[in-house]
Amino acid sequence: MKETIKIAIDGPAGAGKSTVAKILAQKLEYIYIDTGAMYRALTYKIIQLNLDFNDTASLIICANNTSITLDNSLGVANQLVYCDGKDVTELIRTPAVNKLVSVVAQISEIRTIMVKIQRQLGLTNNIIMDGRDIGTVVLPEAKYKFFLTAALEERAKRRQKELLDKGYNEQYKAVMNDLFNRDLLDTTRETAPLKIPEDAIIIDTSSLTLTEVVEKILATVMEGEKDAL
Ligand code: CDP
Repeated sequence: MKETIKIAIDGPAGAGKSTVAKILAQKLEYIYIDTGAMYRALTYKIIQLNLDFNDTASLIICANNTSITLDNSLGVANQLVYCDGKDVTELIRTPAVNKLVSVVAQISEIRTIMVKIQRQLGLTNNIIMDGRDIGTVVLPEAKYKFFLTAALEERAKRRQKELLDKGYNEQYKAVMNDLFNRDLLDTTRETAPLKIPEDAIIIDTSSLTLTEVVEKILATVMEGEKDAL
């Protein structure tokens, strides 16, 4: 089997990973896998079912009985997220999901289910995958690993604008608190915590434009693939 090229992008909430990854996927014609969307879709379902977020056993049963798929048929920029066949693309970006997703993502049995699906997708496609544990756990063999970060204040500003564009008028302080709490849970959990992969290139996007970040990553990949592209 021809070896596939894998690009792993990790980093804290609101660092711009998914926006950058989508543009890169379009330019390189790779498949884009938004692993955060998978945890978000499950969290959305758990909220809908009114399950108790402290009842880990029920959450695991729910995860085992949930089908999550990413559909790129409308193009990577319009990736659709399905949960049990229902389009949840917009429904998983609400403040309610933001608040609870890291609680669900802490559960190691749930991570095992997600990681299995994510690895499978990487077997047959050139992919760009973004998340928290991609370079460390999901695709440790990835040829290219990037860690995108930015100052909390800047990430909060970006996320507040994103939410506003979707019609959620959240206070800056509330958005910043949510990012802070999520980062805390994500970096301190026992299983696959968010950390910088040893061999990752770190990009602080605080004062970079989207184009500059994309160009930086693209330059690295182009250089590495100059014989193959
Ligand atoms: O878009 P944003 O950076 O806010 O977050 P996301 O990538 O959609 O991920 C939402 C949450 O899912 C994160 O805060 C993590 O708790 C969890 N997650 C994870 O644990 N592992 C991943 N590979 C991706 C997301």
